[in-house]
Amino acid sequence: MRRVHVTCGAALAAAVLAGCAVQNTAAPPFKPVANIDQLMDGVLTPAAEVYWDAVSIVVDESGETENFPETDEEWEAVWGAAITLAESGNLLMMSPRAVDDGEWMRMAEAMVDVGIDAAAAAEAQDPDAVLEVGERVYNVCLDCHNRYVVDVVD
Ligand code: HEC
Repeated sequence: MRRVHVTCGAALAAAVLAGCAVQNTAAPPFKPVANIDQLMDGVLTPAAEVYWDAVSIVVDESGETENFPETDEEWEAVWGAAITLAESGNLLMMSPRAVDDGEWMRMAEAMVDVGIDAAAAAEAQDPDAVLEVGERVYNVCLDCHNRYVVDVVD
């Protein structure tokens, strides 16, 4: 997508990306379906919730209890959520969801990178790493929302 954007931008400096894509015969066969809002509600939020809920520490009068996945199948579900988060970063980079070519791309890439670490933590079946990376995931969501949500929401 970036390649197309660049090719396109060079040929048609003033064209909007949508118009541009129509004129680019080499456009890749992507068919973005969800707008940003739908991607957040349908893909990022459910995946993040699976990841964040995977490991928890409960403190009560009997002390601290750490809850974490026990079977390979349960860990695989956490891994799947992490891979979904990683790939969602790529989906956010695609036109027409990409809001700009700078900070937005950097933040979407941060989602890919933290998703890769999140998947590695799940693959290692390491509860402490899942907790630690889960917090980093949260900060990536927050960074982008702080920068963009006010501007994007009508
Ligand atoms: C690259 C930027 C970016 C990242 C990263 C990002 N978001 Fe968002 N998010 C947005 C934008 C922009 C909106 C506002 C969309 C709109 O209202 O059109 C939004 C809106 C939302 C909403 C509100 C949707 C609604 O129904 O109004 C939720 C929930 C959400 N994001 C969850 C998350 C979670 C969870 C993460 C991290 C796992 C995340 N987002 C990461 C950009 C981002």
